[in-house]
Amino acid sequence: MNIPEMLKSLQDPMGVPFYPQVFRILLVVTFALHIIFVNFVIGGSFMSVYAYFRHGAFYKNLSKAFAKATTINLSLAIVLGVAPLLFTQVIYDPFWYTSNVLSASWMVGIVFVLMTAFAFAYLFYLKSSTGKRHIALWGIFSFILIVLAAVIMHAVSYQALQPGKWLAWYMNNNSVDLYGAHLHAFQLPRFLHFIVASFALTGAFMMLYAWYFWEREDMDREYLAWAGKMGARMAVDFTVLQMVVGVWWMLSLPATFHFYTNYMFLTGVPFAVVLLLVLIRAQSDPRKYALPVAALMAVTVFAMSSLREVLRMLYTGKYDYSVSNYTLNISYGSTALFLASFVMGIVIVGYMISVVFKMGRSAKPIDLSSLKLRTWSVYLMIAWILMMIGIGVVIAS
Ligand code: HEM
Repeated sequence: MNIPEMLKSLQDPMGVPFYPQVFRILLVVTFALHIIFVNFVIGGSFMSVYAYFRHGAFYKNLSKAFAKATTINLSLAIVLGVAPLLFTQVIYDPFWYTSNVLSASWMVGIVFVLMTAFAFAYLFYLKSSTGKRHIALWGIFSFILIVLAAVIMHAVSYQALQPGKWLAWYMNNNSVDLYGAHLHAFQLPRFLHFIVASFALTGAFMMLYAWYFWEREDMDREYLAWAGKMGARMAVDFTVLQMVVGVWWMLSLPATFHFYTNYMFLTGVPFAVVLLLVLIRAQSDPRKYALPVAALMAVTVFAMSSLREVLRMLYTGKYDYSVSNYTLNISYGSTALFLASFVMGIVIVGYMISVVFKMGRSAKPIDLSSLKLRTWSVYLMIAWILMMIGIGVVIAS
């Protein structure tokens, strides 16, 4: 059996329940959301420890703010990892599952790595107000474990792209590796591309922080201006570094891909240039530019996520694999249920975000009755519960 046949035989014989292109779009969008929060976690947890060791009240405030944000961003990065996991499992199942089995111990281990990272991040957040130097160890351990999680995710994603090497990895030293105890592949420029971006995005996060809290009566505006300025500096410096790493990654790709002439890559270049120009202008007034910078960064991450998918198509195309050829076994019912839950989720999460946004911006109690999504999110939730019970009853009877 050759590799294309092997990949075909590893696909789900039931086929996919809806058009694979829809799953592909959802994979790209949700991966972009996942990696944005991964970036906030990596950059933010580093900054929480870095600022802890610096002197001065502003650094102390910043360390506390980032220590708190890290616990929330880590939860969001993990939750938002589930969505691309679902979609990659549906359309790239031969690649994803095989790679997971090849490094099974690491994939099971990542759960414990993340639980421990979260516990340490929380301890650091709770204890950092003591100011004792050894407390920083919790933050440092947490940061190291989060980077370890990134190493595992990167290795598994990269192994998945190389079916030609799977057999050799499975036959470790002429005996079958039943434990999945090794990570087999690591590509430094690709890995760094996801890590360096953390500091650019965290810079934008600090600009947004200055913009958001500016309205609050109890916040020190001098401190906010200082944090915004540092954020803008970080954002521009690390965006330049990110571009350098991006070029390095591109040069390390197989020459047969001709990636630098790919139309998706060429479309992404002007976005990166505009982002850089806006970041240079933002240095004079970081707060004013916080929203345009955040929007441009989101677009850039989305473009990066799309390019990552184009790259996967090139890798898998070498073995005649295309998600468009996946057997189609359309199930309108389950797809409608999924999309209805998705829309409902967006409305409810939208409502929660608007509540948190309004409450965080004022030190005084505020009136939330004007929020329009409130009624909708309650009705949609009731409708969804009734629908799920109804489906359960129909299936059971
Ligand atoms: C803080 C912990 C995490 C970090 C730092 C992290 C980091 C990363 C990175 C850097 C990548 C890209 C790797 C590459 O393409 O080379 C990635 C991909 C991915 N991550 Fe995470 N991740 C974390 C947690 C999770 C969790 C808990 C899940 C699942 C519940 C998850 C699901 C995924 C999936 C499915 C992909 C690949 C999607 C695809 O095939 O396109 N991640 N992650």
